[in-house]
Amino acid sequence: MATKEEIIQERLPRHIAVIMDGNGRWAKKRGNQRIFGHRNGVKSVRETVEAAAELGVSYLTLYAFSRENWNRPSHEIDALMSLLVSTVERETKTLMDNNIQLLTIGDVQGLPFKVQDKIQEALDKTSANTGLKLVLALNYSGRWELSEALRRFGEDYKAGNVSGSPDEKELNQYLTTSHIPDPDLLIRTSGEARLSNFLLWQLAYTELYFTDVLWPDFRKENLFEAIVNYQSRERRFGKTSEQVVRNKSKNNAPQYG
Ligand code: IPE
Ligand code: IPE
Ligand code: MG
Repeated sequence: MATKEEIIQERLPRHIAVIMDGNGRWAKKRGNQRIFGHRNGVKSVRETVEAAAELGVSYLTLYAFSRENWNRPSHEIDALMSLLVSTVERETKTLMDNNIQLLTIGDVQGLPFKVQDKIQEALDKTSANTGLKLVLALNYSGRWELSEALRRFGEDYKAGNVSGSPDEKELNQYLTTSHIPDPDLLIRTSGEARLSNFLLWQLAYTELYFTDVLWPDFRKENLFEAIVNYQSRERRFGKTSEQVVRNKSKNNAPQYG
């Protein structure tokens, strides 16, 4: 298992995104209900957030609920929503203590009002914090985000606010992540190797890291391990290895603008 000391500070990923997966299987292995796994996943969230803040990572995005997750049994959805409310309530102090600003991406307006209110409260409370930006992906899906972006672009076009042929940079402005740099590292737990409709546009050049660890077992050391692995890779962005070696310090994804 990797330690914090193995991480090269100068080559820290600026943005880490996580698909937190495997809660249900973790609970099942213990003969418990799926929600038991979700509850135990909260500790992993706290550890990951604290470790990212300690290291000095700028952005951490956590996939907490996808639009496809509405297809789960209603009792599981209800339990997930309650857990979201109680966790945000309880952890706002941790966010304040660590100077962490909370942000959200996804169709937050499609969440139950109680959840929206709690989230809004935490967004307001942490809005002046200047440390890690913790981005919760809630009721999020990449294709929803892209079609929403096109719909809003169409409206602006009809209103005469934009020209009809947007470039990548202009389209990027219509995404819910427009003020967030693309992830440098994506971690998915539980052994699944798929994106499940997460950040489809933004992951274009992200380094992907898959681990068999189930989310409720994920600890700081697992995050360090993923970062050390990331730092061993050569990010070429279409160039040759020789070109990249000459400019080794540029380890983060190129951004728009
Ligand atoms: C991830 O764990 C949590 C959410 C998707 C909300 P799962 O609930 O997907 O756990 P598995 O994949 O069934 O084990
Ligand atoms: C992805 O996990 C969504 C979240 C982690 C919130 P899922 O467990 O829902 O993904 P699939 O359905 O197995 O692809
Ligand atoms: Mg799953």
